[in-house]
Amino acid sequence: MFKIAIIEEIHKEGIKLLENNNKFEYEIIRDTSVENLKKKLPDFDGCTLRVSKLTADILAECKKLKIISRHGVGYDNVDLDHLKKNNITLSITATANAAAVSEHVMYMILNLTKAKMAFDLEVRSGNFKKNIKNIESFELMDKEILISGFGRIGKSLIKKCLGFDMKVKVFDPFVTESEVIKYGGIKVNSFDEGLKTLDFLSIHMPLNLETKNLINYKRLKTMKKNSIIINTARGGIINENDLNKALNEDLIFGAGIDVFENEPPEKNNPLLSNEKIIMSPHTSALTNECKIRMAKEAINNIIDFFENKVNNSMIVKL
Ligand SMILES: NC(=O)c1ccc[n+]([C@@H]2O[C@H](COP(=O)([O-])OP(=O)(O)OC[C@H]3O[C@@H](n4cnc5c(N)ncnc54)[C@H](O)[C@@H]3O)[C@@H](O)[C@H]2O)c1
Repeated sequence: MFKIAIIEEIHKEGIKLLENNNKFEYEIIRDTSVENLKKKLPDFDGCTLRVSKLTADILAECKKLKIISRHGVGYDNVDLDHLKKNNITLSITATANAAAVSEHVMYMILNLTKAKMAFDLEVRSGNFKKNIKNIESFELMDKEILISGFGRIGKSLIKKCLGFDMKVKVFDPFVTESEVIKYGGIKVNSFDEGLKTLDFLSIHMPLNLETKNLINYKRLKTMKKNSIIINTARGGIINENDLNKALNEDLIFGAGIDVFENEPPEKNNPLLSNEKIIMSPHTSALTNECKIRMAKEAINNIIDFFENKVNNSMIVKL
């Protein structure tokens, strides 16, 4: 029997796959404190992982662990060096997330451009059209969006943007021009040049040393005043203080933020009180449908791994 730790609850459709397989037993670990993970995890052969951090310190205790199955696609919460040195496999739910996240980007763009919050308040407060001359709304048609990071989510997003008759530019040094053209986009080779002309920026690259604080005050100053930034990738790619400053100085128009440098954000995080931002609590992939897809894929990756038939596209090359 392989013992599987489910770190943080996942959808029961995923759990059922383990219950229906007599080679596995599982336990749900809800207390994700470092002390508890250090105490519990050494017993397990594999685990699922949502947003909790698995540091080298915790992993050092886990001598039996063979696979960490991320419920999601980002893996900046795991110590990759430790996995590499100790031959621990890391899998992701590669096919589960893109549709939900790219829909969330469109939701944020539409919400901001159609002045959802302000118009809604006008009706509810009885003002109806009284203040509408002070509320601006915009079209997406013919506007330029720069998709930064053209992987699974970027490729799902481009179809939606083209459906709205937007002009799509793509920045991703690791994707060829012909691939971008195939999807109907225009490849941009310089991020800084791309920033100067866009109306919308949507971020879809990983957080790493290169992308940390990529969007800073210096770059925000080069953007058009009507620009809107959407970040559903990872907090830390945008410098939050700089974004807040740029919005307050009207350097850009608005932002949609699903991810924060620290989650949950501290109470004094300036973004929380900035009305030019629409926020969600890292939930762009948490639609009902996507929760089921992620839970099933995370568990199937574990089962497939122990049955030696795991699909390579689910495995992170370390
Ligand atoms: N908010 C959420 O709930 C949520 C859900 C899923 C994924 N994510 C995040 O979304 C991001 C994208 O996910 P994905 O599944 O599309 O990943 P992916 O690996 O399929 O694509 C990432 C792309 O970024 C590109 N890239 C890497 N470094 C880059 C750089 N410096 N500049 C530009 N492009 C670069 C890669 O070439 C790749 O094409 C990740 O950060 C992931 O953590 C967030």
